[in-house]
Amino acid sequence: MNRFKDFYNNTVQLSFLDHPFSKEPKHVWVICRYKDKWLLTAHKERGIEFPGGKVEPGETAEQAAVREVMEETGGSVESLHYIGQYKVDGRNDTVIKNVYFAMIHKLVEQETYYETKGPVLLSVIPKNVRKRKGYSFIMKDDVLHTCMKRIKTIFYNNDRSV
Ligand code: GTP
Repeated sequence: MNRFKDFYNNTVQLSFLDHPFSKEPKHVWVICRYKDKWLLTAHKERGIEFPGGKVEPGETAEQAAVREVMEETGGSVESLHYIGQYKVDGRNDTVIKNVYFAMIHKLVEQETYYETKGPVLLSVIPKNVRKRKGYSFIMKDDVLHTCMKRIKTIFYNNDRSV
């Protein structure tokens, strides 16, 4: 279990166990890879972030992950892998999110990207993302770094070029 503070000084707990906080989390976050790049979205208010959002009534978390990726980036998910789960204890509420790694096989242009400006492709995620203005606060705590490290270990054999 990893425990740390987020950008807003809320306590975050991150685990790679099987759904340690909730079997039915209400939020998802999806780290996407398309060809040899990371696929993110430009949220109109928060800035650049990996896609994600709320699980809708009647939907599974996996279905929400696939839908959010399409809505916010136009990415069609080829394979979806559960990575872990994190819990944010906010001032007013607690948010529990599943983190997934998704391989994207095609980008389909969308008429709307909802609350985002659509896809952003990056060869590398900048090291100093926490200090960069155009990035979302959800990219600015240890969830990103710790999950990326795990994805690179599991799926890319720690290849330094990824
Ligand atoms: P709406 O209900 O759609 O208006 O969104 P909201 O931002 O009010 O609510 P949400 O349930 O998405 O998040 C509530 C609070 O939890 C946010 O204001 C953040 O402080 C925190 N939060 C949500 N998602 C994350 C996340 O991925 N990382 C971190 N560190 N905090 C998060």
